[in-house]
Amino acid sequence: MCGIIAYTGQRQCKDLLYQGLRKLEYRGYDSAGLSVLSDGRIELVRAVGNLDSLEQELRGDGCTGASLGLGHTRWATHGRPSTENAHPHLDCDGKISIVLNGIIENYQELRASLKAEGHEFTSETDAEVVAHLVEKFYEGDLVAAVRKSISEISGHFAFCVIHKDHGGLIVGARKECPLLIGVGKGENFIASAIPAFLSETRDVMVLGDDEMVVVTPDGVQILDLELQPLDREVTRVSWDAEAAEKGGYETFMRKEIYEQPGALADTLAGRLPDEGGVVLEELTISAEDLAKIDKVYLVACGTSYHAGLVGRYVLENWARVAVELDVASEFRYRDPVLSPSTLVVGISQSGETADTLVAMRQARSLGAKVLAITNIMGSQATRDADGVLYTRAGLEIGVAATKTHVAQIAAIQLLALYLAQIRNTLPADEIDAIARELRSVPELMRGYLDNEATAHEIAKRYYQQPFFLYLGRGVGLPVCLEGALKLKEISYIPTEAYAAGEMKHGPIALLDQGSPVVVVANDGHVYEKVVSNIEEVRARDASVIAVATEGNEGIRTLSEDVMYIPRTSEMLSPLLSVVPLQLLAYYIAQLKGCNVDQPRNLAKTVTVE
Ligand code: M6R
Repeated sequence: MCGIIAYTGQRQCKDLLYQGLRKLEYRGYDSAGLSVLSDGRIELVRAVGNLDSLEQELRGDGCTGASLGLGHTRWATHGRPSTENAHPHLDCDGKISIVLNGIIENYQELRASLKAEGHEFTSETDAEVVAHLVEKFYEGDLVAAVRKSISEISGHFAFCVIHKDHGGLIVGARKECPLLIGVGKGENFIASAIPAFLSETRDVMVLGDDEMVVVTPDGVQILDLELQPLDREVTRVSWDAEAAEKGGYETFMRKEIYEQPGALADTLAGRLPDEGGVVLEELTISAEDLAKIDKVYLVACGTSYHAGLVGRYVLENWARVAVELDVASEFRYRDPVLSPSTLVVGISQSGETADTLVAMRQARSLGAKVLAITNIMGSQATRDADGVLYTRAGLEIGVAATKTHVAQIAAIQLLALYLAQIRNTLPADEIDAIARELRSVPELMRGYLDNEATAHEIAKRYYQQPFFLYLGRGVGLPVCLEGALKLKEISYIPTEAYAAGEMKHGPIALLDQGSPVVVVANDGHVYEKVVSNIEEVRARDASVIAVATEGNEGIRTLSEDVMYIPRTSEMLSPLLSVVPLQLLAYYIAQLKGCNVDQPRNLAKTVTVE
């Protein structure tokens, strides 16, 4: 969603800010802007649409020479996308400039009372109240004015402020929305996500909830809300700037699909040692506590939810534990039955998805143990959990999740095996056999991707179809749900994904001559039943596109098209069977001329409920 970049240092910052915004594009936005302190006054440049529009506006303007500034990409929540609503916002006198991510929930009351005091607003946004609040409280000390402003606002937010009389100074604050400091030499950055400054520095400090940060070219001071200094470690991130580049691929999504073997191998690395067993060292919930767990509750959104669906099968099958699962946005409206012996697992690539965070907090307040599965070090989910299991997929820029999804599935498989080990629900030799097979999957996936040729051909035949149905059973069902989500997200083609056995209870009515039906039909204990469903589809003259296990020649006679994946045991098959569906969606979207990396209306990280 919205993105923040701020810079203070010696260099001209217009381009640095603009390049930072480019790196945040993947989060989704509909307008953008910069404000810089130039010749003792704040200059503001904003534009609706993508960054090319902003670039046009920036051409030839006088921001050169400025070495303090803010940049923002806005994803509209309060007020339509327009130049006036784009950030940065200014106070009445144009002395103060702010950029904000998140939502100020009480902005209407604040706006009314500020207006009554004579403040004039120029936008419909909630964010603008912060500029006016800081103006109201400013008496020569910007830090104190920001502090007072925070005490007036409710909601979740991260923002940065500059003042024309405080050259070199940026004050930042956060509550539940990410804000990170990129520590440089004689210069510093603040941003809502690391890629924004990754080409300039890999040294990062994470701002915590209810904290402020005071940044100058030579210093970073983190403060609590009593304005007491806090110690904070500088962490060196292992991603390099290249991770934020396309590296020869035409899109980030394609690059990330091809990075999946590495993401998977990294997620497994060191956790399944050759000598046997499962080692999850960073899991700070003790083995004793985990042994007492009698229910696992998985909460997540979107693609992460689909990883959770795969998790349900492996947790039940290997760890013999009762599993419940819900989309995070619904979890809170139920009355979930949780106890200290429930393990709630929040799955979130970003670790910042508002719905998932709310669900995790609610679970914790109800006494459950909470584990976060996330890809982002220091993200909010890691703070809201009792323990963390990291996926190690590296930076994912494409809005449509791919490599983080397979890494999430692997992380849940690791957790299920670990619980099986603790709970003695699988003999050690069986755990070791699964572990050996799991370690071999990255190589199988690499071999598959190196030789993959069918998905593109199939896409060429079907990309003009108006609708796709996806069918699967058992662990094939979450794969279908994910494949269908990928296709609708990036190609805008309507899709339905159904449990194959449910087709005859409704969706079969949608089928017509030639309707494409994607069926996940891997070898396994439900295969024969899936074949029966394929027959039902064929009887309606619909076209079957099957994902099947290498060596299954019989399925060719039942399907128009087959995408073969390497053979694995059934519980591991989702790691591989999702890949052809990602590719199919990718090629269809490309053929339709869609922007696969930044699909319309979507944001990489959804920080609003
Ligand atoms: O960062 P998270 O994993 O919590 O994000 C959850 C969803 O927003 C995300 O998976 C979304 O569905 C993606 N667009 C999927 O491609």
